[in-house]
Amino acid sequence: MSNSVPGVWTAPDGTTADRISAQARRRRTFAVISHPDAGKSTLTEALVLHARVITEAGAIHGKAGRRSTVSDWMEMEKARGISITSTALQFPYRAPDGSECVINLLDTPGHADFSEDTYRVLTAVDCAVMLIDAAKGLEPQTLKLFQVCKHRGIPIITVVNKWDRPGRHALELMDEIQARIGLRPTPLTWPVGIAGDFKGVLDRRTGMFIRFTRTAGGATAAPEEHLTPERAHEAAGIDWDTAVEESELLEADGADYDPETFLGGTATPVLFTSAALNFGVNQLLDVLVQLAPPPSGQVDIDGNRRSPEAPFSAFVFKVQAGMDSAHRDRIAYARVCSGTFQRGDVLTHAATGKPFVTKYAQSVFGQQRTTLDSAWPGDVIGLANAAALRPGDTLFRDVPVHYPPIPSFSPEHFAVARGKDPSKHKQFRRGIEQLSQEGVVQVLRSDRRGDQSPVLAAVGPMQFEVASHRMAAELSAPIQLEPLPYQVARAVDPEDADFVGRQPSAEVLTRSDGVMLALFSTKWRLEGFQRDHPKVVLRSLVAAGDD
Ligand code: G4P
Repeated sequence: MSNSVPGVWTAPDGTTADRISAQARRRRTFAVISHPDAGKSTLTEALVLHARVITEAGAIHGKAGRRSTVSDWMEMEKARGISITSTALQFPYRAPDGSECVINLLDTPGHADFSEDTYRVLTAVDCAVMLIDAAKGLEPQTLKLFQVCKHRGIPIITVVNKWDRPGRHALELMDEIQARIGLRPTPLTWPVGIAGDFKGVLDRRTGMFIRFTRTAGGATAAPEEHLTPERAHEAAGIDWDTAVEESELLEADGADYDPETFLGGTATPVLFTSAALNFGVNQLLDVLVQLAPPPSGQVDIDGNRRSPEAPFSAFVFKVQAGMDSAHRDRIAYARVCSGTFQRGDVLTHAATGKPFVTKYAQSVFGQQRTTLDSAWPGDVIGLANAAALRPGDTLFRDVPVHYPPIPSFSPEHFAVARGKDPSKHKQFRRGIEQLSQEGVVQVLRSDRRGDQSPVLAAVGPMQFEVASHRMAAELSAPIQLEPLPYQVARAVDPEDADFVGRQPSAEVLTRSDGVMLALFSTKWRLEGFQRDHPKVVLRSLVAAGDD
C-alpha cells in the first residue's frame, strides 16, 4: 500500500480512492425476491433486454420452450420447474441523466426449501426488488423474504407484476402491503387501466402518461410514448381520469416517495409492470439507478465499517458446483466490498491467513462464463477452483479485515446418509465433505453413528434431493437417505451435550463447524425439556425466513 497524497489511499496499480469511489457510485447491486411464479425469471430477462445486452428474451435462464439448456443439473431444475442455481448478472445501463451505470443483478432461488441460499445472496445486495403477482398479492415466500430484508435493513422497491392479467385492485394491494408487512407503499407509477387492461402508467413524479404498446410475444423492448395529461385524457379517457383520481387520493394520504423512509426501510416505492409484455421495465431500471443506494462499505466483525475506497476486500456469499457438465468445478461467488480487483491479484484468505491467487476469476452470465479482469465495490467475482473458500469467508488485500460469518439456518429435516456402494467409501466421504463446505446441506456427526453414516440436515426437503442428485451424478457416490424423526434443532454447550443426548426423543450431534446441535422430535418435546431443566442452555439458531 502506498500513499502518494496524504489521506488518500492509492492502490499498488495507481488507482486512487477517488476513482474507486466514482466506480462504486455507478453501481447498483440488487436481487429480486418473490414467491415462485410471480415472474422473477421473466422480469430478469426483461431487465437485461431493456438494458440492450441481449436482443431476444429467453437467452439467460433457458426456460422450457425457449433456448434449451445443456447440463443434467439444469435438466433437474427444468423437471422441477424451479430455478435452483443462482446467477450473478452484470450489465451497463444509461441513467436518465445520461450517466453510465453498472447493474449487478443477483438471482435468488424462489423455492422456500432453498431459503438459506436466498438468505446468503441477500447478504450481498444493497437493495431488493419485491415482485408481487397482481392477482395473488403477498404470498408466503414473499413475506418470509421480506422479513430477511427488513432484518438486514435492505431497502425494498415493490413491483406489482402481471398487470396485463385480471387481478386485484391497485389500492387494495397497497392496503395489503401496509397492513401485512408494515411498509408504507409510495407508488412512483400508477396503472392506467385495471388489471387485465394495462394501457400504461401515470408517472406520479412528472404527471405524464407513459403509454405502452404491445409487441409480438413481448420479445423485443415494448415501445412507449410519453403523453401530457391533456393528451392522456384523449388517449385513455376514463381510465386516465381514474388513475389521476386515485393518485390524488394517495397524495392526500401522504403516500408520495420520500428518500429517507425508503432508505430507512419503512417505506417502499411501488411500480406496476408486465414483465411478459416488457411494460414498465424501463421505469424499474430508471428507479434503480436513480433511487437505490450504491455500495457504501461493509461492517466487519468488530463493528467498524470499511469504506468502499479502502483496500480490496470481499466476502464469499455462495459456493456452487456442478452447474454445467462442461465446467465440472466449484465456483465461489464473492461480493466486492471495498477497493479494486485485478485478475491475478494475490489476496489473503482471512479464515486461514493463506494467500489466494485469483488467476481464475470469472464473471458468469447465465450459461456463459467470461474471464473477469477487474471489479469494483458492488461487483460479484466468480472464483473458480476455489476449494478453500466457504460461504461467509473474507478475502482482503493489504489491510486485514474480517467480515461476520453468514449464520446457518436452523434445520428442520434430518436424514442419515449411507453410501449405496461400499467400495466407493472415499468418494462418499469426499462428496459429503464437499456438500457441507458448499452449504448444500448441513452435515452432523456423532461417535455413536460413526463416519459412515453422517446425518444430513436441511431447511427444506428439496435440499436432500439436490444432495442425492449431486452425490450420484457428479461425485460418483450414490447415497440412500433414511429420514430421522426430528423436527427441531438447538445449539447446546459441550458440557450439557451428554445429558441432553440421553433424553427420550432427543439426540446430540456435532455440525461440521464444531457447533453441537441437540435435535428434538417435536417443538413440544423441546419445550417440555426446557421446562424440566431450566439450567441447560439451548440456543436458537436462525429460523428460515424470520432470521
Ligand atoms: P418465477 O421465475 O418467479 O418462478 O416466474 P416466471 O418468470 O417463470 O413466470 C411464471 C409464469 O408467469 C410464466 O408462465 C410467465 O410467462 C408468466 N409471467 C411472468 N410475468 C408475467 C406477466 O407480466 N404477465 C403475464 N401474463 N404472465 C407473466 P408459464 O406459463 O409458467 O411459462 P411460459 O411458458 O410462459 O414461459
